[in-house]
Amino acid sequence: MACKVPFVDPRAHYQSLKREIDAAIGNCLSQGDLVNRQQLQAFEKHLASFVGVKYAVGLNSGYHALEFSLRAAGIGRGDEVITAGHTFLATVSAIVNCGATPVLVDVGDDYNLDPDGLAAAIGSTTRAVIPVHLNGRMCEMDRIMDIANHHGLVVIEDSCQALGAHHRGKKAGSIGLTGCWSFYPFKVLGGFGDGGAITTNNGEDRQTGEYHYHGYTALLDNVQAAVLDVKLRHLPKWIEHRRKIAGLYNEGLQGLGGLILPPFDGYGYFDIFQNYIIASTSRDSLRAHLQADGIETLVSWPKPMWEHPGLGLKNPHLRNTERICREVLSLPMSAETTPEQVDYTVRSIREYFSLPLRQPLLEAAEI
Ligand SMILES: Cc1ncc(COP(=O)(O)O)c(C=O)c1O
Repeated sequence: MACKVPFVDPRAHYQSLKREIDAAIGNCLSQGDLVNRQQLQAFEKHLASFVGVKYAVGLNSGYHALEFSLRAAGIGRGDEVITAGHTFLATVSAIVNCGATPVLVDVGDDYNLDPDGLAAAIGSTTRAVIPVHLNGRMCEMDRIMDIANHHGLVVIEDSCQALGAHHRGKKAGSIGLTGCWSFYPFKVLGGFGDGGAITTNNGEDRQTGEYHYHGYTALLDNVQAAVLDVKLRHLPKWIEHRRKIAGLYNEGLQGLGGLILPPFDGYGYFDIFQNYIIASTSRDSLRAHLQADGIETLVSWPKPMWEHPGLGLKNPHLRNTERICREVLSLPMSAETTPEQVDYTVRSIREYFSLPLRQPLLEAAEI
């Protein structure tokens, strides 16, 4: 069956911005501004100001933002770095590839690093912690920072899924030594290819021309920076849209026994819904039912990373992470997702649970 509700819609996204995007790209090409020119510097300045820090450095990926942050903090062989067991592999690969040992800790019901698990995992060689703000909701950074400061740990924030999220007045990516960002096309701020950045208050002017280390070729392309700079101006409006879509899902999916809905604000959190995650013990058959109705969904991630033998990771026996891999499902969510698509998806899910919606969801929607 043809897809009625796409998970994301990059073609519609481009069409809605075509004029601005084409002008920005045309500008770079006609002026010959291809590498490390004013478009990159302007984007870095605007990103730093959006996050609320002094500096931003545009890079080619979120992965490299993480690896370079660890290397800049002097982390390497013999060091342990604690992070969440439930995260994208890149978080852990960055630790392994800089020579350090990852120590994986379970996540709580918010899908984020459990601060008690962090405290319990600290040992004599622990040097750093990477809290991952997953799905657009921040970790409990007050507690994580208290624990990290008490033990003298470096904190690198994996904020790749949380641009614009905040908690008790503090923005994702502005609290640790660095915030690491991904501009993979389907992130809240996505380029037309891979991209990333580091934000920090701890930097220096890179125009001095001084070399401090042997390096890498990993700068954000100028054309991508020009595109991202255009998109950054639209980001607050897109975040509001995502929050409204999440509100509609929450409203429509209330009262379905056995279906767990994601956290939404409360306790000083402001969530930006990179992903809208539901959980159910019958996830796979629910997913097949949605697919038959033409609704595209995503599973992040179908098995824990330590079950991939090629990665050589020890099994840390994390109960929540293992359960999450079996139960979670991401519903369609993007700046282009419409209330009609949510209505259709909600109806399909309620039909699966044999609890049809009594009144139209759209009456409540004012998007
Ligand atoms: C939580 C998390 N960490 C790290 C990354 C790595 O980012 P990238 O794909 O840009 O390397 C991503 C994005 O895919 C992510 O979602």
